[in-house]
Amino acid sequence: MIKTAIIFGITGQDGSYLAELLLNKNYEVHGLVRRSSSIHTKRIDYLLHSSDKIHLHYGDLSTSQHGFISRIQPDEIYNLAAMSHVRVSFDVPEYTIDINAIGPLRILEVIKDINPKIKYYQASSSEMFGMSLPPQNEDTVFQPCSPYGIAKLSAYWTTKLYRDGYNLFACNGILMNHESERRGETFVTKKIIRAAVRIKLGKQDSLVLGNLDAKRDWGHSKDYCRAIYAIMQHNKPDDFVVATGYQYSVKEFLIKVFNTLSLNWEEYVVYDDKYKRPKEVPSLLGDATKIKTVLGWSPEINIDMIISEMIKSIMIEEK
Ligand code: NAP
Ligand code: GDD
Repeated sequence: MIKTAIIFGITGQDGSYLAELLLNKNYEVHGLVRRSSSIHTKRIDYLLHSSDKIHLHYGDLSTSQHGFISRIQPDEIYNLAAMSHVRVSFDVPEYTIDINAIGPLRILEVIKDINPKIKYYQASSSEMFGMSLPPQNEDTVFQPCSPYGIAKLSAYWTTKLYRDGYNLFACNGILMNHESERRGETFVTKKIIRAAVRIKLGKQDSLVLGNLDAKRDWGHSKDYCRAIYAIMQHNKPDDFVVATGYQYSVKEFLIKVFNTLSLNWEEYVVYDDKYKRPKEVPSLLGDATKIKTVLGWSPEINIDMIISEMIKSIMIEEK
């Protein structure tokens, strides 16, 4: 039987890889897209051109999703939509709470009311661990320290509540940072790599950054979308941390990228307070033992492969 899925956030990094994965599994895929004055389906254009099983619908998580979900009657809903930038969440905290915390509640309310058999995936985040020391796993205490983290934690608990209270198949994937050539331009990995490539090509002469001491566990979006799918195909709804188990500081990442391009980072990198956050998650390092043991998932793409993929694609764009 052909399955139908809705992806909220289909135009984003993860949404595009997940749509590809589901189409390859013969799903009918419906995605919500926000109307914008400029076209922003760049990440999924190749799918729109090659498949008649992908369908886009205008909408926004700031409003009720009752009509949309009722019309599609999906088997599975993947909620990847969010105001996903932690630094920006300090500038627009109310909006962040509305989309990232109330948005998931809007979807879960519809599932509860129209068809409790629809499965639900919530894109939870390692940002929820906040000040808690690594390694972080499913039992680690959450201590969020950004409006983004607080909103995501609300959605995490809402997902658990609808699972335990209303018997829904509702799951949280608690994903550590993950990147790819499709990563948004203002996240630190993409920002560093684009700047380094432009410096190499003589198109830029400096790179302005904030805190270089924060440590992150960086994986690849493709690997993490495999994990998302595995979580939804498990025989019971549950929550899983998804991580590589390796950690690097922003400075170590920077050095890796500049070294790859035979550049000395110290000649180009400038610090600016404007990229500093009012509060910062200092150290993320995931313990993915549960998903490895229960679902047999493990990452295949390491940090050097991620850097090399991103450099290659940006080099092509910039040349
Ligand atoms: P992304 O590239 O920023 O994509 C976010 C998606 O959400 C985009 O499709 C965006 O649409 C959509 N969106 C934003 N506001 C919306 C609204 N009001 N209504 C409907 N859609 C809206 O993020 P990502 O890296 O793919 O991450 C996917 C999800 O995982 C996010 O929820 C993020 O918070 C979470 N997460 C990400 C990571 C990571 O490291 N990447 C780690 C843990 C959790 P537009 O194209 O119109 O902007
Ligand atoms: N974006 C950005 N820009 N970050 C900088 C900069 C800069 O110029 N300079 C230093 N950083 C530091 C940030 O302070 C942070 O410690 C680290 O680089 C990573 O920043 P981001 O790439 O913006 O990612 P993030 O860790 O804040 O959030 C990402 O990962 C979360 C999961 O842990 C996002 O993808 C979130 O959506 C996701 O939930």
